[in-house]
Order: sequence, then structure tokens, then C-alpha cells
Amino acid sequence: MADVIIVPHLHAGGAAAATLIAAVLSPKPDMVLGVATGSTPLPIWSALAAMRLDMSRVSAFALDEYLDLPPGHPESYAAVVHREIAVPLGLNPRKVHTPDAQADLRDAPSAYESAIRAAGGIDVQVVGIGRNGHIGFNEPGSSLSGRTHIANLAAQTRRDNARFFESFDQVPTRCITQGVGTILDARRLILVASGRRKADAVAAALEGPVTASVPASALQLHPDVVAIVDEDAASRLSFADHYRMSAPHGDAA
Ligand code: F6R
Repeated sequence: MADVIIVPHLHAGGAAAATLIAAVLSPKPDMVLGVATGSTPLPIWSALAAMRLDMSRVSAFALDEYLDLPPGHPESYAAVVHREIAVPLGLNPRKVHTPDAQADLRDAPSAYESAIRAAGGIDVQVVGIGRNGHIGFNEPGSSLSGRTHIANLAAQTRRDNARFFESFDQVPTRCITQGVGTILDARRLILVASGRRKADAVAAALEGPVTASVPASALQLHPDVVAIVDEDAASRLSFADHYRMSAPHGDAA
């Protein structure tokens, strides 16, 4: 069972997650941080940046990357991670990794797995959740023990991410993503979710059966997961009152 922290709004969630990351960084300044792109984690990066911690020795690994975008495209996750995470946090660009969408795709997935292993594994992985229950770009039906691989994006995900592109048609159809098994290898996971449109996915992930139909439900198998969700995203949880009372990470709200 994940620790579930229900916060009134996303901003408080960012502060709570940043506090958890800072607690790992303090004794381990060269920690390995798994980062998620997308909107939900943005308050985490701004809260961490505001702490003015020395993160120059941190290694970072993104969950996923689009395929078939031109190199340097501003919505490639390499560019997004650089702009929204690496620069504000003061990460060393040489220690920031995204799956290489320009490499030979036969080699890129295993190269990414090797890079994570060579860094010593991920200490803390931040994950968002798709409306369809995806984590990383592991769409419904993905193997719950999968490793980094090439995958197709669900139409729902492409529609949700069309806001970052000029039109739906420009959203890539393919990606390279850490597998669910890769994600579960992280020593600690922080799941963040916000908004009513995530409520069904959050309830299915945290309280439903563990099933490939909801890849995020595999998080139930991990021994150290903290789910930080706002009131709206928590609105379909059956045990929300219990979580509120048992939230172990103090002053999140
Ligand atoms: C991003 C990723 C995705 C997002 C998810 C939620 O690297 O792997 O799983 O975390 O699609 O995105 P937002 O936060 O934009 O709703």
C-alpha cells in the first residue's frame, strides 16, 4: 500500500515532493533522480529550485522521449527536461539523460537501461499518471515487468499532449519509454496527480486490482511509494479519509 498524501492543491503537492527529494539529496549529493515531464510535476521543480540546493552532482534520468521529432524540437523531452528541470535546478547537463530518440532504435532501449545501471540505479523516481492509467509512456496493455522499449502512444495520450503542439497531427505516435519493470526498480517512487480528470486513474491505480489495463496499478507492488494527490484527483478514492489521517509526511498541506 502506498503512502497517500492528499493536498489541497498542486502547489502544496510540489512542496511535499520537493521535501522528500531534498531528504534523499542531503546525505547523498550525487543521488540519481528520475524525472517526469508533463504539467503535474512542474510545482516540484519550482519548489526544489526555490530551496537553492546544490544539485550539481545529481544525475537525472527522464522516463520517456518522443520518437520521430526533428533533433532539438522544443517539445522533445530532451529539450523540455533541459528547459524546465535541468536549468532551474542547476543540474550538470552532462549528468542529465533522456532516451536517445536519434540513435539506432535497436540499441537505444538497452543503452538507456545500461546508463541507469551504470549510475547506480534511480534513488527517487517522480511519476505522473495518464488519464488512462499510464506511467511513463506505458499505455494500457503494457507488460508490468517490461524494460525500456519502443512503444506506440495511445490516442488518448496524443489528444492530452496535443496542447504542447500546434495540432493533434503533430503529436508523435511513437515513443521510447522506461518499462514498468524499469520504473519499479527505483528505490523510491513519488506519484503525483492533480485534477478531477485524473480521479478515475488514481483510484484504479491505488485501490484497484493490479492489472496491465492500468499500468500505474503496478505501483502497488513497490515497497516505497508516496502518492501525492490533490483533492480533485483524490475524489474517487474510497479510503481517502483513512489516507488523510495516516499521511506520514507531516506538513504537506
Ligand atoms: C511524462 C510521462 C507521462 C506523464 C503523464 C501525466 O514524462 O511519462 O506519463 O507523467 O502523461 O502528464 P501531465 O502531468 O501533463 O498530466
